[in-house]
Amino acid sequence: SLQEASALFGVATADVRTLPEALRSGTTALRVARGHDADVDALVDEVRGDTDSEARAKSARLDCELGVALADHRLVKDEWEVGQLQRAVDATVRGFGDVAAALPQARDTSERFVEGTFFLRARVEGNDVGYGTIAASGSNATTLHWTRNDGAVREGDLLLLDAGVETTTLYTADVTRTMPISGTFTDLQRKVYDLVYAAQEAGIAAVAPGRPFGDFHKAAQRVLAEGLVEWGLLEGPVERVLELGLQRRYTLHGTGHMLGLDVHDCAVARQEAHLYGELEAGMVLTVEPGLYFQPDDLTVPEELRGIGVRIEDDVLVTEEGRTVMSAALPRSAAEVEAWLAERLSRA
Ligand code: GLY
Ligand code: MN
Repeated sequence: SLQEASALFGVATADVRTLPEALRSGTTALRVARGHDADVDALVDEVRGDTDSEARAKSARLDCELGVALADHRLVKDEWEVGQLQRAVDATVRGFGDVAAALPQARDTSERFVEGTFFLRARVEGNDVGYGTIAASGSNATTLHWTRNDGAVREGDLLLLDAGVETTTLYTADVTRTMPISGTFTDLQRKVYDLVYAAQEAGIAAVAPGRPFGDFHKAAQRVLAEGLVEWGLLEGPVERVLELGLQRRYTLHGTGHMLGLDVHDCAVARQEAHLYGELEAGMVLTVEPGLYFQPDDLTVPEELRGIGVRIEDDVLVTEEGRTVMSAALPRSAAEVEAWLAERLSRA
């Protein structure tokens, strides 16, 4: 109800049906968070009555400022929000456990069985999934946002699952695990996994209050670049590789983003407060390095082609450093194998 929303969020509320009258009765300062309610957007346009392109541009600028201000305010989560995010993460951890136990049935069907299994958990414990589940087996993992999820789940391949439960209060988790469908990594899969894991460890260690936001990305990219040079995929020295960003052919994306009501939360926040700002206690972000070798990439040895690995956890910046909110989910290769063995024995 309006009263509940007002008490919960500490803001004045009113019936949206009274909005036309309120706006038409004269308002000195008017901004709208666009894209949430088409009727409200249209009403604001009507009340403003902008007749020329200059006036329209000014209104658009004002609305944009509101969007930026809202994103700025959301950068640091309060205790209640952190609690909501932890609930989302905990339900997500259970959803990943459901998927691990369901791998035999997924092998008989398709990636859709993985998506559907996770979705059941999301609907029972939350509102929905926070974004389209990526259930990518085999070389589908090298397509970044593989959400078709109609591929086969084959023994011997890896399954990359990137999924998050969204709470009824609309906060979402964003977690990725890459698991061997057979229960055991091959030596080669493990080699790739271990490098991504080492990069994630370095990234997580660089999350601390007062550190520039970009540090965790740089720390993870350095580890990946060092590994790629050591394997002979890229020609060193590592400093040159990093300067030119040569590793990006195989890393494809940044190492993480803010998390909250949106999966890519606060994306429009002021750059000086976010991308070029410093981490602060109460911020929540993902740390998600990956390596992806396209099936047709002739720059890598044939045996690596079609392997894609990402490991993603949700991390809260604390006064002391950080807390990995998704730590209940196994992360190292050995832990993942032990967890799969345990889950599969229950299946
Ligand atoms: N979980 C999808 C993404 O971060 O883009
Ligand atoms: Mn993510």
